[in-house]
Amino acid sequence: MTDNLLRLAARGQAVPHPPVWFMRQAGRSLPEYRAVRAGIGMLESCRRPDLVCEITLQPVRRHNVDAAILFSDIVVPLQAAGVDLDIVAGTGPVVASPVATMADVDSLPALDPQAVGFVAESIRLLLAELGETALIGFAGAPFTLASYLVEGGPSRHHVKTKALMYGAPDVWHALCARLADITLTFLQVQAEAGVHAVQLFDSWAGALSEADYRRFVLPHSRRVLDGIAGIPKIHFGVGTGELLPAMAEAGADVVGVDWRTPLDVAAGRVPGKALQGNLDPCVLFAPWEVVEAEVRRVVAEGRKAPGHIFNLGHGVMPETDPDVLTRVVSLVHSL
Ligand code: CP3
Repeated sequence: MTDNLLRLAARGQAVPHPPVWFMRQAGRSLPEYRAVRAGIGMLESCRRPDLVCEITLQPVRRHNVDAAILFSDIVVPLQAAGVDLDIVAGTGPVVASPVATMADVDSLPALDPQAVGFVAESIRLLLAELGETALIGFAGAPFTLASYLVEGGPSRHHVKTKALMYGAPDVWHALCARLADITLTFLQVQAEAGVHAVQLFDSWAGALSEADYRRFVLPHSRRVLDGIAGIPKIHFGVGTGELLPAMAEAGADVVGVDWRTPLDVAAGRVPGKALQGNLDPCVLFAPWEVVEAEVRRVVAEGRKAPGHIFNLGHGVMPETDPDVLTRVVSLVHSL
C-alpha cells in the first residue's frame, strides 16, 4: 500500500504536491458543523464517537484536504482524568479550581487510558472511512495546558502562569511533569488506535523567551515527544519564530510555523526538519488574487525545507468563507 502524502512530506520524501490540511478545519466555519452541534455541548460532542467521526469527516468531504484531524480538544484528556472544567462557547476552556500550590498539583489525577476509550473508538470508526486521507491525532503540550489550569481560562499575557513559573519553579516543574504524563498517555492511546501522525499543540509557548522556554518547557515537551515512536510528530506554536530551533530540539519531525516567519527563513533555522504552515488565516478574507499570490508564495518558500505540509499559520477563523478554503486546496494540489 502506498503511504499517504502527509507521511511522505513529513519524512522529506518526494510528493506530487504539498499535502494540505487546515488547523480548525472542522468547526464553526462549516454550516454542516453548526447543524450537527446544535444543542450539544462541545465536550459532550467530543465524547460521542458517532459525532466525532461525522465532524472529523466534514472538511475532508467538502475541501478534499489530504489529512483529517481528530475532532477533540486539548482539554479533553484533562476532563477525562477528572479535572472539573468546561468549554464555554466564544470563550474557550474554563477551569473550576485553578492550580496554584503544590497541594493542587498533587491532587491532579493521572489519566487512565480507558477513560479516553471514546477517542480510540472514534479513531477506529474514522480509519474505516478515510482511505488515502491521513488521520492526525493531537494533544496540548504541557505549557499550553498549564496556562489554562493556572489562569483558570484563556489569558492574554499568562501573568499567573509566568508568576508560578518564576516564583515557584518546583511547583511549576511538578505541574508540567503531571501534564506531560497525561499528554503522553493521551497520545499513546491515539497512536495505538492507528493515527498516521500526531501534532503537539504548544499554542501559547510563543509568550516565552528562548531561555525560559528551554529551562521551563522544553524538557517536559521532549518527554512527551520522545514517548511516541514510529509516526511523524508535528510540533506547533504561535509567535514562535525565535523558538523554532528549541521546539525542533524537543523532538519533532515537522515544525509548525505561524505566518510571521517566512518558511524559507524557518527552514534556515531548523535545518533537516520538514515544515508545516503558514498562510495567514486573515488572508482568506482578501480578494482571490491576493489569496492566490500568497498561497503560491508559501508553497515556493516551503520548497526550501526538506518537506512541506501546507496549512494556515493558525486555526481557521469561524467567519471564514469555506468555499475559499476549498479553492486553496485545489490550488495547492495544482502546484
Ligand atoms: O479541526 C481541528 O483542528 C480539530 C479540532 C480542535 C479543536 N480544538 C476543536 C474546538 C483542535 C485541534 C483544538 C485544539 C485546541 N483547543 C487548541 C490548540 C490549537 C490552537 O488553536 O492553538 C487550543 C488552544 C484549544 C483551547 C480552545 N478550545 C479554544 C481557545 C477554543 C475556542 C473558544 C471559542 O469558542 O472560540 C476551544 C473550543 C473549541 N475547540 C471549538 C472547536 C471546534 C469551538 C467550540 C464550538 O464549536 O462550540
